[in-house]
Formats: sequence, structure tokens, C-alpha cells
Amino acid sequence: MANDDLQRFLDEIRARVSVVDVVGAKVKLTKKGREYQGLCPFHNEKTPSFTVNESKGFYHCFGCGAHGDIVRFEMEANGLPFMDAVQKLAHQAGLQMPQFTQKDKAEHEEKKSLYEVMEQACAFFEKELRMPAGSEGLKYFTEKRGLSKEIIQKFRLGYAPNNNALMALLKSQGVEEKDMKDLGLIAIPEDTSRRPHDFFRNRVMIPITNKQGKIIAFGGRVMEKIEPKYLNSPETPIFNKRRNLYNLDKAREVAYKEKQLIICEGYMDVIALDRYGFGYAVAPLGTALTEEQIAEAWKVVPEPILCLDGDSPGVKAAMRAVDRVLPILKAGYSLQFLFLPDNMDPDEYLQAHGHDSFAALLKKTRPLIDILWQKYTENEDSSTPEKKALIEKTLLSEVAKITDPTVRSYYAQEIKNRIYLNFRQTAWQKDAANHPAPSPQVIARSVPPFASHCEEQSNAAISPYSRVIARSDSDAAISNSRNSHYPQVSLPPRRGRLGEGENKPSYFSRNRNARPALNHTIAASPETLRQSANAEQDKNISFIIAAMLIYPELIDDYEEQIYYDDIKNDGLKQLLQQMADICHEAETPLTGDELCEKLLKQAPNSPVKTLWELGMLKKQNPFINDLRKNVEKSLSEMKLRGMEEEIKKLTAEVCQNFNEETYLRLTELKKERDAILAAAAEPEN
Ligand code: UTP
Ligand code: MN
Repeated sequence: MANDDLQRFLDEIRARVSVVDVVGAKVKLTKKGREYQGLCPFHNEKTPSFTVNESKGFYHCFGCGAHGDIVRFEMEANGLPFMDAVQKLAHQAGLQMPQFTQKDKAEHEEKKSLYEVMEQACAFFEKELRMPAGSEGLKYFTEKRGLSKEIIQKFRLGYAPNNNALMALLKSQGVEEKDMKDLGLIAIPEDTSRRPHDFFRNRVMIPITNKQGKIIAFGGRVMEKIEPKYLNSPETPIFNKRRNLYNLDKAREVAYKEKQLIICEGYMDVIALDRYGFGYAVAPLGTALTEEQIAEAWKVVPEPILCLDGDSPGVKAAMRAVDRVLPILKAGYSLQFLFLPDNMDPDEYLQAHGHDSFAALLKKTRPLIDILWQKYTENEDSSTPEKKALIEKTLLSEVAKITDPTVRSYYAQEIKNRIYLNFRQTAWQKDAANHPAPSPQVIARSVPPFASHCEEQSNAAISPYSRVIARSDSDAAISNSRNSHYPQVSLPPRRGRLGEGENKPSYFSRNRNARPALNHTIAASPETLRQSANAEQDKNISFIIAAMLIYPELIDDYEEQIYYDDIKNDGLKQLLQQMADICHEAETPLTGDELCEKLLKQAPNSPVKTLWELGMLKKQNPFINDLRKNVEKSLSEMKLRGMEEEIKKLTAEVCQNFNEETYLRLTELKKERDAILAAAAEPEN
């Protein structure tokens, strides 16, 4: 078949197949006058500048200049080689594909698809890395970045020399200057007296592939310490920065298997992660993570891990990701967050600490809700009702951005819970303006695990984001609950009633159950209430009380685990005692409402009236078993906190004045605490 025949065959196809149909299969088109309009598939845009003209058989984009007929569209929008594009369209046209000679094909394929040009460029850069001129580049990769030959090969790393050799090579192969320019491989200076030249010069080259593994762009890095470090391909007909993720083609397979996908910030991080055995890493392409990229990642795993430097740009990136992801959240799909300590990126972290350490970090990621909460509460002044209200409003307006109604309602619920639990300042609590309530984390950290001259070491706080990453053990126990305010702590075995339990752990061996005689007449005065020394404990107890007021049977179940002597807030202590006594004295089991009524009859000023948690729980109407879990968690928090205080006291004693008995008690207590912490670290089932 002669070339003319091929031409005629193509004309026949063009006559039969509508360009609007071909383009319309990929792009939503609307008729505007004589033409059709849509969003350009070759670059990212919000208002359509892409037009399709049926009578002329062409598409054209006024935004990026993409232009062509149906064959070109199949090649460039769908990545097909020329002959495959013809085959596909012939099929659509209902035409039998004739046998073309090799020569026909060769002539036609001379005009290479843009993908093929990029492939050529990539091969060129790879080859150059091994040439004398590229020795600098090779040294950079191997010596400076510690990359092996295998990794260099796997990621097809290369070197762009400073002599316009790429342009010359492509020209010799019949690639048109316009294509080179469209692909961002050459730059044509506006000053026409200056000649076109290679776009990437004297840089090490990192090729960027699409999901199919075809080269669509490059990142070129300077080897010296100068800024900007990277020069990236511009948006081109085949490269869309917003939609692609670096390394997705390779990472995807591994990620399916490992059920994990890491999104990190840079090319070199992805490469380092792969080198250390984490082949499931991708990165955005020189911009912040986009909605499109999140959607791509969700096609691989439902909760990709966003791995960021612990420094302030990393934190900012996390906050931007929160903004991006909220509107597109859907049931089951989210992001997890991991902040690396010491301002390190994954590359640096892996080189410093190795595989196992990073693998351990991957187990300590934080859910989106935590980051959202942190974004709007950390460093925010919440000392007045107005300021609290502002924080609440801001948070809820963020939640309102979630479009999925089910996800949105769960977020709203969780945020409201957190607001209740964190900002609630009732009449009997400390004046928040002067003594802001410490967060559980702060409490855990402010109890020095042990003075450093004593044995116990703290692995606390290494970066400004220490709360996020490195926690002391107690921190982890108290705040490491992934989705809830309460820690996931398994309680020690239930003890028997008062006086029983010979094998009680040492912390409980003092008779803490003994409770002072009840004084029904005392309604706690605001003054005594204000003396409350520990807002966190108040929260735990308030929650427990509220739960018991919803389901009074919880009083029987848990009363013996409460150590009245340790309750610092007299008002709450009395309230709890009154509740227990009313229930014990009642002849038949009481409902929550009956219990409240009796309480108020006995003590008309009872703080039960202003108990925030009660309002919250009434609204939520939770199942008793869910409440049980949270009551247990509150109890554990209190126990741990009590133990930490005791440990601190004993430590001080031992350090000051060594005494074997105290020392033994201390050792026992620590063992016990560690056991609880270890149990807390076990995943909940
Ligand atoms: P980083 O500065 O974290 O770079 O930028 P990196 O990947 O760790 O590279 P090394 O380790 O310094 O070699 C993260 C990403 O931001 C984009 C690149 O995609 C980079 O991988 N970036 C950064 C640019 O596009 N241009 C720049 O000048 C810098
Ligand atoms: Mn880096």
C-alpha cells in the first residue's frame, strides 16, 4: 500500500468519524455557536478554552495551544502510538484496516508521538550520565546522594549537558522544533537574535512518568547549593502537574500489595524510600498536593500517608492538604499524617535512622481529624467564651466544607465532642483565663518521667512538632488514641469489692476505696470548686459522672474503680458520692432522670445542673457499651496520671534520700505503669 493510499485511508476515517465524538469520549463538550467547548484535557483549567470544530475536524486549545485532528487526539490524549490510533479509529469508522508497508509506517511514525520524543530525551539523559561530561552528575548521585547503579537505572536518572545536544539529536531524528518546545525540552528566547537552546542544562535529571510508565516530564536538579534547586518541565500537552504523581506507575503495584501508599514531598524522598524498601511512595510535582492527586492516590489505597518534614513548611503543607481534602472526603477515604522529627525529610531520616525506625514511624500516623483539630486550636487563645465560640464556629465551618453528608455528620459530632471535652469550663473549674487547662499531652509531659539523673529517660520532644511525633511513653498512652480523646488502654483485671483483692497491684494496695462519710447537705461552693487542682482530672470525672447519670447501672459497674481520695475537685467528688448513695439506697434501679431528680432534691445547687458532658451525652444518646469503653478509658487516664504523680514523688524521695523500701515501691510502681502503657499500645480489637 503506497503512502498516498494511507493518506486516503486516513481521509476516509476522518470523513466517517466525528471529532466531536472522539474528543467527547474524554472531554465533556457543550455546543457554543458553531463550535463545541470544554475543559482542555492537556492542561489544567477552570474555564473552558478548549474548542472542537466539527466541520474542520480539529480541536484547538487557546490556553495551551494543543491542536490536532482525531489521530493526534488519540495519540496525545490517550497515549496511543500512531498505528494503534489509526487502528482504533478505523474500527470506529467500520473500515477494514489495510496492510501498510513498513515504509508507510516509518514515514508516518517519523512524526513521533510526543511520548516517544520524551522517551528519546530520557534515554539521551541516561546515556549522558555515563559519558565523561556527565561524570559530575554520576558522582552527585552516587557519592552525594548514596544511590546505587541499580537505583539509578530503576529511576532512569540522567544528566543534561550544557551543549544543546538534545535539541541537535531530536532535530536529526526529524522531531519538529514546535514539538520540542511544546514538550518543554527547548526554550525559544523571545529575543529573536538569540537561538533556541536546550531547556535543561547542566543538571541531573529525574524523569517523571505517567501511570502507564510513559515519560511525560522531567525534574532537573542543580548539583550545587543554589536556589531554586529544581527546574521542572512546564505544563505541556502530555504533562499535567495537578493530575500526576511522581512514581505512581511503580509505586502502585507495591502499594496494592502492602496496602499502603506514602505521599512525600520530593523526588529524592521517593527514591530514598524505595532504596530503603518502601517502594510505595509517590510525590506531587513541585506543587502542593492537589485534589486530583489525592483522588489518584485513593484509587490505590483508601488512606494514603502524607509524610512531611516536621519543619514549618511541612506543617503548612499538611494544613493545605487538610483544606484540599475536606471537600472531597468520602466514606472510608481519608489521609493519614506523619511528621518527621528534626526537620528531616524522608531521605535524611532514612539515612540517619534506617528502615526499621521509619517503619515504626509509619505505625504512628495521625488521622485527619487530629490535624484539623490542631490546625484551629493550637496556639489559639480560648480563654473567653467569645474566643471559644469563635474556635468552635471556625471548626464547624471547616467541617461544613465536607460535601459527603455522612462523613460530615461524623466530623461534626467528633468536633463537638472535642469542644466539649477541651473547652468546657464550668462554674466550678479554674479560671481558664489565668490558668488555661493543660491538654492531656501537656500534663503527661510536664510530669517529668524522671529527673535525668535518675534512671528513666524521656524520649520527649525533638522537634517543634514533638506533640505530633515523638512522645514520652506516658504521652503516647494518654494521647495516642487515633480517633478519640480517650486513650486505648486496657484496664488491669477488675478488682473485687471493697476489702477484697489480695493480689492487687501495688499502686492500689493503699486503701483508696475508703471514702469519707457522706455529707448530703454540702453542695459544693464555687470557692471550693474553684480550687480544683487538675482540670484534666475534672474532665475525666465529669465524663464518668455524666455517663453514670445517663446509665445509673454504670455506678455499680465502676464505682469501685474510683478512688475518692484522689479526686481533687470536692464538688465532683461529692456529686459522685451522692449519686452512688442514692443508687445504693434506692429499692429499685433508677433511671438517669430519676437519679438527677433525687440529686437536685437533696442538693438544689448541685453542679449536676451545669454539667456539660451530661448535655453532650444526652444529645448523642450513646449505647451503654460505647460509654463503657469511654468510662474505662477515663478511669485509665486518671490512674495513669495518679501513677505518674506518685512516681514523680517517689523518685524525688529516692534521689534525695535513698531508702530501699521506697526504691522497691518505685520500681514496682513503674513496672505496673509500664504494663498499663504496654497494654495501651496494643491495638484495640
Ligand atoms: P525539597 O526542597 O524538599 O527537595 O522540595 P528534595 O526532594 O528534598 O530534594 P533534595 O533532597 O534537596 O535534592 C520538594 C519538592 O519540591 C519541588 C520538587 O518537586 C521537590 O522534589 N521543588 C523544590 C521544586 O519544584 N523546585 C525547587 O526549587 C525546590
Ligand atoms: Mn531532600
